[in-house]
Amino acid sequence: MTFHTLNELIAEGVRGRYVLVRSDLNVPLDGFTVTDDGRIKASLPVLEKLTDAGARVLVTAHLGRPKGAPEEKYSLKPAVARLAELAPFKVVLAEDTVGSSAKELSASLQDGEVLVLENVRFDARETSKDDSQRAQFADELVALTGSNGAFVDDAFGAVHRKHASVYDVATRLPSYQGDLVHTEVEVLQKLTTDTQRPYVVVLGGSKVSDKLAVIDNLLGKADTILVGGGMLFTFLAAVGHQVAGSLLEEDQIPVVKDYLQRAAAAGTEFIVPTDVVVAEKFSADATHETVPADAIEGSSFGAKGIGLDIGPDSAAAFADRIKGAKTVFWNGPMGVFEFEAFSGGTRAVAQALTEADAFTVVGGGDSAAAVRTLGFADDAFGHISTGGGASLEYLEGKELPGLSVLDR
Ligand code: 3PG
Repeated sequence: MTFHTLNELIAEGVRGRYVLVRSDLNVPLDGFTVTDDGRIKASLPVLEKLTDAGARVLVTAHLGRPKGAPEEKYSLKPAVARLAELAPFKVVLAEDTVGSSAKELSASLQDGEVLVLENVRFDARETSKDDSQRAQFADELVALTGSNGAFVDDAFGAVHRKHASVYDVATRLPSYQGDLVHTEVEVLQKLTTDTQRPYVVVLGGSKVSDKLAVIDNLLGKADTILVGGGMLFTFLAAVGHQVAGSLLEEDQIPVVKDYLQRAAAAGTEFIVPTDVVVAEKFSADATHETVPADAIEGSSFGAKGIGLDIGPDSAAAFADRIKGAKTVFWNGPMGVFEFEAFSGGTRAVAQALTEADAFTVVGGGDSAAAVRTLGFADDAFGHISTGGGASLEYLEGKELPGLSVLDR
C-alpha cells in the first residue's frame, strides 16, 4: 500500500484550510484525571506540524465505549485539558460533535488553532454497521471543513475500526496518513518481514480468546511465545493442571491444545509458567503465596485460590529468553500489575525488554500503561505502540480498514 503523507499535504499548503484530523485520545482515566498521557503526547507532533503551517485543525477522537449518546464520564474534557497543557497552540473543546457548538466554534477558528470535537462515539452513527448511517455522520463531519478541506488519519489505535471518523470521512476528502500511523506501520512491518531471530513474543492479558488469531498467525513465525497473564491458566488447564479459582476459559481449552500440538511442528516453542502467585482473593492486600504451576489447588487457599501473577522462577526464565532475543514483541501484562504484590512478573518482563540487545516493541493498551505505571521510560524500549487491538490485528494479518481506505 502507498499513502499520501502529511508532508505532501503541508507542501500543498494548508494556511487557512480546515484539516480534519482523527487522533487517538482514548486515554485511561481515574475519575477525571488522565493516568497515562502517552497517546496525547503521541498525537501532538502532527497537530503541531499542521498548526505551524497555519491550518485550522478540527480533531475527532473517541474515549471509551459510550453507547451512542453523550455521557459525562466519557467526555474528552480531561484528555483535552491535558492536550492544552502540553500544546504550544490554542486548543478548544466543542460541547458536541457536529451540533451547534461544533459549528459555531469551527466557523470562528483561526489559522494555527485546534478545535477538538466532543467524543465521536456520543453519536451512534459513528460505529453503525449501516453504511448509510455512517455516511450521513461523515457528511456532517466533512461539512465542518468547508469547501477545501483535507483529512489526516493519525489515530493508529483506531485503524482497525470501520467507523465514520476513521473510514468514511477518508472517502470524502483528500486523505493523508499522519506521521504516527506511518511510524507505527513501519515498526509492525519490521516485525512481519525480515524479522531478526530469535523472535520472542510475550503474550499476557486476561483472555486467551482475544489472542487466538494472533497466536494462530505467529505459529511458525515466532521462535518462542511466552505466556503470562490471566490467559496462562487456560494453557495450564490444557496441559492437565487444576487452576482452582483462577481465570479460565474452558471453551478455549481444545483450541489451546491444538496450538500446543501444532507449535512443535511449526517450529515455535510455547513457554508456560512453572510457578504462579496465588492469592486468597482479588485485592491489593490479599494474602498470597507462590506455588508450582501444577499445584495451584495445593496452596493454602485450596480451590478458592486465584492466580494473580507469574511466579519469580517463571519471571526469571522469561527474562532469560527475552534477553537472548533479537526481536521482541510484548502485548499484555503478566499479572495484576496495578497491585504492587502482583506486579513482579510484569516488572521483570519490562526490565528484560529494556536490557535486551534487540528490537523491542511494546504493543499498546494495557502493556503501554503498565510500563509507564511501573516507572519505565518510554525511550528504554524500541517502540511503545499506541495501538493495542490495532497492532494485534496487524500481526494477525488482517486488513485494517483505516489503512486500506488511505491507499492511493
Ligand atoms: C484502543 O484503545 O485500542 C483504541 O483507542 C481503540 O479503542 P476501541 O477498542 O474502543 O475501538
